[in-house]
This record gives sequence, structure tokens and C-alpha cells, in this order.
Amino acid sequence: MERNRPLSQQYELYTSEDFAVWRALFERQMHLLNQYGSHYYKAALNTVGFEAASIPDFSIVNKKLKAATGWQITVVPGLVPAAAFFALLARRIFPATCWLRTMAELDYIEEPDMFHDVFGHIPLLSHPAYADFMHAFGQLGLRWNDDERKMELLSRIYWYTIEFGLIREDGQPKIYGAGILSSPGESLRSMAPDTKRSPFQVPDILDTPFRTDVLQEEYFEIMHLDQLTEILEEVAVIMRQDAKHSVFL
Ligand SMILES: [Fe+2]
Repeated sequence: MERNRPLSQQYELYTSEDFAVWRALFERQMHLLNQYGSHYYKAALNTVGFEAASIPDFSIVNKKLKAATGWQITVVPGLVPAAAFFALLARRIFPATCWLRTMAELDYIEEPDMFHDVFGHIPLLSHPAYADFMHAFGQLGLRWNDDERKMELLSRIYWYTIEFGLIREDGQPKIYGAGILSSPGESLRSMAPDTKRSPFQVPDILDTPFRTDVLQEEYFEIMHLDQLTEILEEVAVIMRQDAKHSVFL
């Protein structure tokens, strides 16, 4: 469908439907995330000040992020090519859309909108360990962005952490990945008793392709937030070894 894709957030242009969409999505997700969301995410939601009653104002959110971890949001019209995306992350800038789906699209949208980009991705950027991990991810992506095979492997790490990651808290799986946080279907699927949830092991993830057009069939759990940095260090070593010996895959 034709969309207006602003290149800056002009807050006064949001309509009453936009506010109603944000509220409906926010309330529906919090109903699930109060129980299933990582405590890191729920605390971070308070840090950035997101609430059902108002669409986040990037100028205010950016002040809070700056003070917490130095991250900033920049507005983009839609998906950003991988190399440009990593270059932004390496400067602690997260590209986000500022348009919202319509009421008619509440349950399904083909591409990420502001609810996914902002509700899903932004809060945890106020947490120092997560913020540093995302920054390091950008640097690693920049280092290898001319190597198609390594970019594919990095995208698997991205997919099973930043988008669809689970974290074990008090013996239970909890949600921290943006693709789950912003989707009721993924939230319920990831938490269902018969869903496959496996410990996050880097070699397994590098060997696990993903699909973007279906609910996930398997989710991977980290044990603590600092593990994200350890994962990236392990990936960096594997990639350097691969570059030297061409033994990996
Ligand atoms: Fe995303």
C-alpha cells in the first residue's frame, strides 16, 4: 500500500488513528510481556518512558538514551541495507521508522513499522551491556561487510539474539528479542510449552538459517545479558580464523 514515509518525526502530524494504533499495540503486548518479558526489557521501558497513552517523541527519547548509554535514534523510511545499518550501529545510532501501521493492519504488516522498530528495539539500548553489544555488533558488521558469507553468518547471530532472542531468568525463559517483543504471535509461540527452546551455542547458530516469513520454529536462550558480548567475541574469533585458513564452512 501507499504510505507516507517521513524522513523526520513531525510529532504534530500524528493522527488520532496513529495514537489509537500505538495504544492498542502497546496494551496488547504489555498484557503478554508483564508475564513473559525479560525484566531487563521492562525496566528499560521505564528508562525510555514509553507508555500506552503517547507515541514516543524521538527528541525526548534521544535525550534519555544519550544520558543512559549515548545511543540515538535516527529516522529512516524503511529497511536499511546491511552495510549502512552496521555503519550506523557502529556510531551508536539506531535507524527507526516513524510511521505506524493502520488499524486495519493491527495483526499483520509486511514490513517493520515504528511499533517494531521503536517498541521492540529501542528500550534495551538504554541498558549499558546491551548498548555496548549493539555497538560491537555494528563494528563487526563493518569489518566484514564486503564478505557475503560472513554477513550471512552475522545475520544469523543477529536474528537469534536481537530479533528472536530469549533469556533465562529465575529458571524461566523470558523475551528480549525485538521481533518477539513486538508480535503477539511470536510472544505466544516462543513461550508455548511444546515450543523448542535451546541453549544459545555459537556453532549451532552459525549453522541455523532462518526464515522471515513464518513464525519461528526454534528459539535460543542466553543465560545472562553479558553473554551477548561473549557471543560476539566468539564470532569475531571464528571469522578471523576463517579469513586466515578458510577452514570454516
Ligand atoms: Fe527488527
